[in-house]
Amino acid sequence: MGVLENKARARLFYKYLSKVYDRVNPFVWNEEMRAEALSLLDIEPGDRVLDVGCGTGFGTEGLLQYTDDVHGLDQSAHQMEKAFRKFGKRGSVRFYRGDAERLPFKDGSFDLVWSSGSIEYWPNPVAALRELRRVVKPGGQVLVVGPDYPKSTVMQRLADAIMLFYDEAEADRMFAEAGFVEVEHHIQQARPGSPRAITTVARAPEA
Ligand SMILES: C[S@@+](CC[C@H](N)C(=O)[O-])C[C@H]1O[C@@H](n2cnc3c(N)ncnc32)[C@H](O)[C@@H]1O
Repeated sequence: MGVLENKARARLFYKYLSKVYDRVNPFVWNEEMRAEALSLLDIEPGDRVLDVGCGTGFGTEGLLQYTDDVHGLDQSAHQMEKAFRKFGKRGSVRFYRGDAERLPFKDGSFDLVWSSGSIEYWPNPVAALRELRRVVKPGGQVLVVGPDYPKSTVMQRLADAIMLFYDEAEADRMFAEAGFVEVEHHIQQARPGSPRAITTVARAPEA
C-alpha cells in the first residue's frame, strides 16, 4: 500500500498541497478533461449531485454547470477552506467534512455521485465505492477519476510506493466487488506524455 493511502497522512499532505493545488492541478487534470468526463454523464438540471473528495472545488465547479443542487464532501479542512472561498461556506453548494468510506447520507440520497482524483488516497477503495453505490439512487450513475497504472516497471514501483494507481482490469474488479453494473472506462490525458487518468462511469443496480 502506498504511503498516501492513509487518511491521516493524506490530510497532512493536503494541509500543504492545498496552498498551491489550484496552480498545479491543471498539469494533470484540467478543464478539458473535466468537460469530457462531465459529457459522459446524464445530469439533468435540478439533479442532486454529490462530489466526494471535492477538495478546492474543481469538480464541483464543473458540476454546477449542469445542476444547482451540488453537495461537496472532503476530509481535509485545508482543501475545504479553499472551496469555501470560491463558493461561500453556506452558499449554493452544501459542504460536509467527512470520509469517503463513511458517507453521512441515507441510502439513495443522490441522483449522481462524482469523485475526481480522490480514490488514490482511500485505504479501502472497495469499501468507499460501496458507499458511493449506497448513497446514489438505484440505477444512478457514479463517476470516479483516478490515476491510470503506468506501463513501465520502474514507474509502477514508484507509483505503488506513493498511492493507488490502477488499470482497467483492477477497476473492473473493484467496481464489481462494490456492486456496480454497466462499468466503462475512459483514459484521459492533459497532453501527450503527462500522467493518464482512468475515468470510470458505472451504474448502481436498479432496486
Ligand atoms: C487530488 S484532490 C481532488 C480534488 C477535486 N476533486 C478535483 O477534482 O480537483 C483529492 C482530494 O481527496 C480528498 N480525500 C482524500 N481521502 C479522502 C477521504 N478518505 N475522504 C474524503 N476525502 C478524501 C483530499 O483531501 C483531497 O482534497
